[in-house]
Amino acid sequence: MIRYPYCQPDIRDEDRAAADAVLKSGWLTQGPAVLDFETALAETLDCRHAVVVNSGTAALHLAYHGIGLGPGRGLLTSPITFLASANAARYCDAPVVFADVDPATGNITPETVEQALADSPHPIAAITPVHLAGRPCDLAGLAAVAESRGIAIIEDACHAPSARYPDARGGTAAVGACTHSRAAVLSFHAIKHIAAGEGGAILTNDDALAARMRRFRSHGMVREPELWQSAPEADAPWYYEMEEPGWNYRLSDINCAVGRSQLRRLAAGIAERAALAALYDERLGNLGWLSLPPAPAVPGGHAWHLYPIAIDFAALGLSRGQVMRRLAAQGVGTQVHYIPLYRQPYYAARGHKPLPGAEAYYARTLSLPMYPGLTQAAVDEIAAAIRSLAAG
Ligand SMILES: Cc1ncc(COP(=O)(O)O)c(C=O)c1O
Repeated sequence: MIRYPYCQPDIRDEDRAAADAVLKSGWLTQGPAVLDFETALAETLDCRHAVVVNSGTAALHLAYHGIGLGPGRGLLTSPITFLASANAARYCDAPVVFADVDPATGNITPETVEQALADSPHPIAAITPVHLAGRPCDLAGLAAVAESRGIAIIEDACHAPSARYPDARGGTAAVGACTHSRAAVLSFHAIKHIAAGEGGAILTNDDALAARMRRFRSHGMVREPELWQSAPEADAPWYYEMEEPGWNYRLSDINCAVGRSQLRRLAAGIAERAALAALYDERLGNLGWLSLPPAPAVPGGHAWHLYPIAIDFAALGLSRGQVMRRLAAQGVGTQVHYIPLYRQPYYAARGHKPLPGAEAYYARTLSLPMYPGLTQAAVDEIAAAIRSLAAG
């Protein structure tokens, strides 16, 4: 039995009470809790707008649609990510191009992006850096590459809300404030920092983009009378118009209430994760066949969604499957983040080729249990199980 899954939500009485209050109110779909959650998200993450939707995938799709990805306006992203970062561009019929990653962090870099842009068979309109495991990409460097070419940056920030990185002015900025990007996307999936069951958000400082995404999250309906083109009478109470179809990407008040409650513990949860990461670092240091995740670039420079170690499986003399099964037999859950997207049959069939940095990262990575509530005793037990792998 798995006693320590690699991730797990931290649900407390206040979260249950928040959901219960919505259920008692009788208003279950998009209502007052949406506005409340959006306001709190924008305030906490220091951004002008937060637009909540029913998944991180929907958030990526709305952001990509909002900035006009499509045929002839492609996306450049990382292959070391969840399927959604790239797939959402395919929903817009936009071509996808993968940039290689730094084999130590799994993140794209200004250099790998320059190379991929030079080699790209398609015009690129957006770059989506994925802050893998919670460690921000070099956003200032990526923005310098993108801005000179008129390319938008849409951050996939699903792993890294509020993690800090060096900005272009010699200080630091936080993921979510969109200091060096057009928008940043979050997920409220059950194992993310803000666990609302399902859900997602787009953060942006761009008023027009926020308004466009709000419209398209609910079928493209225009409810503002001043924008109607053919209303039968002014202020018609029943009336709405649609110029272009959108989707039903609405997030319910139930999810928003849970998300709002979880958001209050975002900083404390990240601090707890950072303490667990430091403990793992201490317990797993000095093993020739195991490398620790590289230290954050600045204080607060990691949100520790995951704790990925790198294992030299050949030096250890065990395959990754053997390692995962042996750890599972001792109650320790692990996972691989991620299988490079160009290896998926869909992308391989479209001519995407292996990239050396991504292959090197994938060959060694393994995510260990990481979530608020994991105890020091549990980390000791997990570390002992890992060290014992070398015993044969
Ligand atoms: C990096 C990354 N991007 C996008 C997503 C998609 O989010 P969701 O599952 O909420 O659609 C996830 C989460 O699963 C993710 O980890």
